[in-house]
Amino acid sequence: MKLAMIGCGNMGKILLQSVLKAEKLTTSELSVYDRKPERRQALGEKYPGLGLPDNPYDCVSGADYLLLAIKPYQYAAMLAEVRDSISKDTVIISIAAGIGTEHLKRWIDPSVKAVITMPNTPALVNKGLTAISYGEGLSAEEMTFCRGLFECVGEVVEIEEKLMYVVPSISASAPAYIYVLIEAMADGGVMQGLPRDLAYKMAALTVEGSARMVLDTGKHPGELKDLVTSPGGTTIVALKSLENDKFRATIMNAMEAGTKRVEQMMKGQQP
Ligand SMILES: NC(=O)c1ccc[n+]([C@@H]2O[C@H](COP(=O)([O-])OP(=O)(O)OC[C@H]3O[C@@H](n4cnc5c(N)ncnc54)[C@H](OP(=O)(O)O)[C@@H]3O)[C@@H](O)[C@H]2O)c1
Repeated sequence: MKLAMIGCGNMGKILLQSVLKAEKLTTSELSVYDRKPERRQALGEKYPGLGLPDNPYDCVSGADYLLLAIKPYQYAAMLAEVRDSISKDTVIISIAAGIGTEHLKRWIDPSVKAVITMPNTPALVNKGLTAISYGEGLSAEEMTFCRGLFECVGEVVEIEEKLMYVVPSISASAPAYIYVLIEAMADGGVMQGLPRDLAYKMAALTVEGSARMVLDTGKHPGELKDLVTSPGGTTIVALKSLENDKFRATIMNAMEAGTKRVEQMMKGQQP
């Protein structure tokens, strides 16, 4: 088994570390090429035995799976460089927003075996969520292997590729919205006299606990909201204020804006 990885920045490092920690693969089954020599050197020091070729051709050559952990706008140039070294049997795994099977067909080969995924950064604490879709021509074993890679960093949901463009807005980009919510709640606590550290902790634990309630009870979020909302109490007053300020519409508008950007990226448009 050989898994090759091109690019090893934020997301590549998380995946590499988690796959090794979960003992899904050994260092000798991995080959990583990042164009930054200092990054390759640091990886070699951290993971003795890891395959670290100094060029992308040796990295991809003979790979059963090739994971592309580079930015979306870097895909076309990088694949133009290595496409002749990629075997027709290699399964290509994308983790980039706005990259689909059609792009990989164009840049590698029309019969490419593609797996399109979209992880998120809570993967760093093993609480990631990866959306995955499989292209044509993959065996059951190959699909299971790819799913298993991302299960090393959290949960995996299978999704039709035609819906993959929505994923950044609800999952891959969405941690940023939640961090802003936590920061805003903490600011509100500080405004009312709470110490800053305590305010961050209380806001973050409340977000975590509320999400757990939705997942563990299976109850509709509206029902859970009703459980917290006493007649004439403090919660209903705060909820009315959120409605006045169009809280729900604000979130939905942000998601729509993010998705519009994905659509631009799919067409190769720069910001
Ligand atoms: N970070 C997230 O929250 C997140 C979430 C979901 C998915 N993703 C996806 O994950 C992918 C990687 O994101 P990231 O945040 O890990 O990016 P990153 O930190 O910039 O890492 C990419 C690494 O790949 C290197 N690289 C670029 N082109 C290369 C090439 N042709 N050959 C070898 N190495 C090359 C980069 O070097 P240079 O710095 O020299 O370019 C960099 O070291 C993106 O497609 C992104 O959409 C990220």
